[in-house]
Amino acid sequence: MLAPLLSDSQLLILLSMATITFSSLQASPSLHCLSLNSPKNTPTLSFYSHSKPFPSISLKPFNTTLKFKPRSLIISAAFKTFSETESITVPLTEEEFNSKMPSDCGVYAVFDKSNDLQFIGVTRNIGASVFSHLKSLPELCHSVKVGVVDDPDKASLTEAWKSWMEEHIKTTGKVPPGNETGNATWIRQPPKKKADLRLTPGRHVQLTVPLEDLIDRLVKENKVVAFIKGSRSAPMCGFSQRVVGILESEGVDYESVDVLDEEYNYGLRETLKKYSNWPTFPQIFMHGELVGGCDILTSMHEKGELAGHLKK
Ligand SMILES: *[C@@H]1O[C@H](CO)[C@@H](O)[C@H](O)[C@H]1NC(C)=O
Ligand SMILES: *[C@@H]1O[C@H](CO)[C@@H](O)[C@H](O)[C@H]1NC(C)=O
Ligand SMILES: *[C@@H]1O[C@H](CO)[C@@H](O)[C@H](O)[C@H]1NC(C)=O
Repeated sequence: MLAPLLSDSQLLILLSMATITFSSLQASPSLHCLSLNSPKNTPTLSFYSHSKPFPSISLKPFNTTLKFKPRSLIISAAFKTFSETESITVPLTEEEFNSKMPSDCGVYAVFDKSNDLQFIGVTRNIGASVFSHLKSLPELCHSVKVGVVDDPDKASLTEAWKSWMEEHIKTTGKVPPGNETGNATWIRQPPKKKADLRLTPGRHVQLTVPLEDLIDRLVKENKVVAFIKGSRSAPMCGFSQRVVGILESEGVDYESVDVLDEEYNYGLRETLKKYSNWPTFPQIFMHGELVGGCDILTSMHEKGELAGHLKK
């Protein structure tokens, strides 16, 4: 009866659930440890985690030196189950937010005003994720449950997310609507990067205007142009990388030109050096004028002058 609702990955979750016996949903799901210090002094430590079969380590009696520490065990033991976790109303101001929401790795579940679960997410920064949901989907973010995962490795995060998901599916028979396959409401799409601009149609096409004029037109027709080494999606030097990073972190709508592109920007490096009278790359132009290279842009960014300069 669940099948039509479920994708492959959800089925996998259900399948893996089938091998797990929840003795009680309230109990910490993963750790069943028969302590060596218990009166029975049982020599066997057995444990299971959600994704793995149930290994068991046999220890010689009275030898308490473990050969290894199963890491996910420790996390799961500290990590609260979905139902154990109390939900909190999403704070509305940024200050309140920062004081109430952890900026740690973990999982979170978002509920709407009717207290219906909308989405269970996993993140490297709970506060930042919930905050971005709140900004983009205020009507769906009424309260949240958050679970910090102390060990920030990917496997423990996935494990934690799966445990909440499984618990919810187990109790309701449903996947949260926001986690249904194909629902892009909650998962931020990486912004599509613009393509780099090319100065010429190709190296072997005879230019009818001098390259210098093409550069001139390009920097005057576009508010911000960064001549960088490599493309904006894969800068080829640290300085270019930093330039792209700064422009993107400030949300600047800019054009980029790859000065290393010998096919479409052939001869650009030499011509641009003369045009701008600046010997190195990257070079950033704003409103048709050279601003400078990476250092100058970095300093403008640090002093908070970039936005003002762009408005001019
Ligand atoms: C206990 O186990 C450790 C690791 O397996 C081993 O190196 C050590 O010799 C053992 N000690 C005793 C008393 O058996
Ligand atoms: C995606 O999930 C949200 C709930 O968070 C729901 O309101 C919306 O209708 C869903 N969209 C689709 C296309 O299923
Ligand atoms: C649910 O949300 C998680 C976390 O963002 C996402 O990775 C997953 O694809 C979503 N859907 C399903 C079916 O798990």
